[in-house]
Amino acid sequence: MYLHGTSKINDQGHLEIGGVDATKLTQEFGTPLYVFDEALVRQRCREFVEAFQASGLKFQVAYASKAFCVMAMCRLAAEENMSLDVVSDGELYTALQAGFPADRIHFHGNNKTIEEIEMAIDAKIGCFVVDNFAELHTLNAIAGEKRQKVKVLFRVTPGVEAHTHEFISTGQTDSKFGFDLGNGSAFRALEEAKALPNVDILGVHSHIGSQIFEVDGFRMAAERVAAFAVHVRKELDLTFRVINLGGGFGIRYIEGHTPLPMATYVKAITDAIKENFGSNDYPLPEIWIEPGRSIVGDAGTTLYTIGSTKEIPGVRKYVAVDGGMSDNPRPALYDAQYEAMLANRATEQPEEVVSIAGKLCESGDMLIWDLNLPKVQTGDILAVSCTGAYNYAMASNYNRVRRPAVVFVKDGQADLVVKRETFDNVAGNDLIPERMKQASK
Ligand code: LLP
Repeated sequence: MYLHGTSKINDQGHLEIGGVDATKLTQEFGTPLYVFDEALVRQRCREFVEAFQASGLKFQVAYASKAFCVMAMCRLAAEENMSLDVVSDGELYTALQAGFPADRIHFHGNNKTIEEIEMAIDAKIGCFVVDNFAELHTLNAIAGEKRQKVKVLFRVTPGVEAHTHEFISTGQTDSKFGFDLGNGSAFRALEEAKALPNVDILGVHSHIGSQIFEVDGFRMAAERVAAFAVHVRKELDLTFRVINLGGGFGIRYIEGHTPLPMATYVKAITDAIKENFGSNDYPLPEIWIEPGRSIVGDAGTTLYTIGSTKEIPGVRKYVAVDGGMSDNPRPALYDAQYEAMLANRATEQPEEVVSIAGKLCESGDMLIWDLNLPKVQTGDILAVSCTGAYNYAMASNYNRVRRPAVVFVKDGQADLVVKRETFDNVAGNDLIPERMKQASK
């Protein structure tokens, strides 16, 4: 397993993260356990912020909180001078409870409810990323009732789709999100918005994909957005002050993943903006981005206790852990691949090839296929790396399992940031109708 950030093997032959022995963490907090290397999260935030500072452009780096949204993380992002992208009332609530400055919160989503819009306007958030015509008019109406003018970006689909190593340029993007640049709906949105009294148009937003290892897709998106900005300026006399190019910067989950340094992505984006706006004599806009995975992904490690094994001679050996798709649905959902090691026997040589199964009642609940490990014993601690993004965030109570605890580790100290769920968290909202209670008397 590749050792990210402060992870290392200590003198006892144990995995250590943030200066804390992983076996101590499991004794103190139990398993499964999400462990975050706080120094690495902060380092990732700084890599983005410093790269933008070097560009000389005005900017905001908004952490896409959907990747991992808990109060301690929101607090950390605020301390690191990040802005925050939220996509629901729950994420907004978490951020506000954590004391995140509202004026640096951006609200996304293709179907914001009236309640969400009201909550966000009342909180005086920094900006709405408007996704569709209905939202635009609802937002204008609610803002009017509340005698406020709200700042808006328009989410556009630029006809660029990027995944890992390739990007494709599509004529018209078939997407549930945003206004299409190619078919004129983005232009119509701006035209309609111009006539609305309660929206202050900042500019446009585009997000081209996730886990991207190349800069070409971002460059092309910047080019298309700039061409659109020039067109809108000429036709509607509207000048964009902000361009948001979304998230999607890739990370190394397994060998063969080759992400670029964050500074390389930022430089490609800021250079493309300078070129494409500068050459059109357009006042340079502020640049915003929204990294999620690249802020928290490789800083997360999940620790499990190994339980049962099942060997099928000539076929494979299954090794089961005390979690699975309930704490990490990504292998089942996306065929995501992970690396892992025995945290309590980290220096021992591999002796067998095993497949790591979860404990949930579903054959598809497999975390890793064909992993080289020392001879596994019940009670060993399995560490799966790179589980910081979209793991806790997408965890479920399937089979009514309790969601794990989350700890931040740094400089030899471990702090609980989310408590392990209790049975009351799992069943506490259940109600038995009175008539059933009476019938059973
Ligand atoms: N901005 C927008 C508008 C987005 O839709 C997303 C991710 C991001 C930013 C952050 O993207 P990132 O930097 O994290 O790639 N559950 C999936 C990922 C879904 C991403 C959705 N949007 C997974 O586990 O891979």
